[in-house]
Amino acid sequence: MDTLKASELGLSKIQQARKDSGRNRDDSEWLVAASEILCPESEWASGGSYAEGCSEATWRRFLTGYSVAAPAFKAFCQVLGFDWREIADRPDADLEDLSDGQYIDWDSCPEVTVFYDRTLELTQMSEWIGEENCRLIAILGMGGIGKTTLAIQLAKQLKYRFQIVIWRSLQYAPPPDKFIPNLIKSIPNSQAKKALPDTLESNIVRLVELCNSQRCLIILDGLESLFSNNDLAGKYRPGYEDYAKLFYQIGASIHKSCFVITSHEKPREIVKLEGRKRPVRCLKISGLQKRAARQLLQEQGLVEEPEWDRLIQRYRGNPLALKIVADTVLELFNGKSSEFIQQNTIFVGQLSEVLDRQFERLSDIEKKVLYRIATAESPVTISQMREKISPAVSHSQIIEVLESLARRSLIEKITEKTSDSDPVMFTLQPVVMKYIVNQFKHIFQ
Ligand SMILES: Nc1ncnc2c1ncn2[C@@H]1O[C@H](COP(=O)(O)OP(=O)(O)OP(=O)(O)O)[C@@H](O)[C@H]1O
Ligand SMILES: [Mg+2]
Repeated sequence: MDTLKASELGLSKIQQARKDSGRNRDDSEWLVAASEILCPESEWASGGSYAEGCSEATWRRFLTGYSVAAPAFKAFCQVLGFDWREIADRPDADLEDLSDGQYIDWDSCPEVTVFYDRTLELTQMSEWIGEENCRLIAILGMGGIGKTTLAIQLAKQLKYRFQIVIWRSLQYAPPPDKFIPNLIKSIPNSQAKKALPDTLESNIVRLVELCNSQRCLIILDGLESLFSNNDLAGKYRPGYEDYAKLFYQIGASIHKSCFVITSHEKPREIVKLEGRKRPVRCLKISGLQKRAARQLLQEQGLVEEPEWDRLIQRYRGNPLALKIVADTVLELFNGKSSEFIQQNTIFVGQLSEVLDRQFERLSDIEKKVLYRIATAESPVTISQMREKISPAVSHSQIIEVLESLARRSLIEKITEKTSDSDPVMFTLQPVVMKYIVNQFKHIFQ
């Protein structure tokens, strides 16, 4: 018999909906309602027997994420007010299981075989898309933190809510006058077959119309490739400025689709449009929670669990950094993290390739500010930064630079203050600190 079980996100939704209902988990009304769905021709009452396959034990299994027979699973979801497809864990679902007329184009999307945690992030975005009809969501964070992986997991979990799902990578920086028409052509629709308009503006209007005639989920991965080098964050390369018009229209116009973008940097047009009550949102992600990070280290084959928390803290739960470090620990220290940690050095290794990509876009003044923070013995205030930078920079210039660095997820603000008069202080992740000192010491010393 076919069985189904809840995904991790599905399970958190089930538990929330059950709590919101105000009814106890052992309330027999749940089973009465499910029996009425499974077998509407019979009369059901609490305390009696229930429809076939619907028992207290099955209900409890469902609530705790275990597999139950598919008809009972679907009925329980309906009782809680969900479409079962939103709740079920079906990692292998592909085009074949999709309902009639649904179209999915994964293009060059990488395969995600292992995925840990991110329940909060997935729940948040699912709410934004499902309940708040958000039209544009930016997943932001530093290199290797897990943006692409999270976007893929989101698309897998929410694809049932959309008629069309399209994944595109922007890694190789396609020029907008090629990318936008190609995107329009890839949306299956009678309108899409009409000759495309001549101007980019009219093409954007056409795309918005298509996004309003059917519900599409369009994921654009790696937006940072479109941004300029040697400039403050979120500024498009010469020749790529039209992307700003695209994202502005997607966020500002009325339509029923959702664009999800991933980026190291927050695009400037999103700064203008986002808001807690607006249909444009940003989700800044940090490293994996301790439990998920430990699962990742275990999967990588590390031993000596007591040492793992120090590794996780040192690399701030960045999954790519942890994978790279785990690889080194396996190769050089037979998987023993204690020997690696005793070296008491921050190992940057292959992570520098990821950071190189991020750092080549920084302006000179950003590099200077980062170098000052990296070489200070403790977190620094804005005034301390200014004192050490030459030629002198104004307070407002420093603020602009810090804002840009924050948009790139490269600085950390110290939040614990002992009193309100304490100045705000800034520091860097250990691995970013080490990288900056290595890269820039010849330039700024
Ligand atoms: N939730 C997760 N569970 C397991 N592995 C993860 C998770 N998130 C990320 N990873 C792993 O970490 C690595 C980096 O993830 P990913 O490519 O998604 O990062 P990214 O933020 O998109 O990086 P970049 O900015 O360089 O594009 C990948 O190998 C991925 O498999
Ligand atoms: Mg990525």
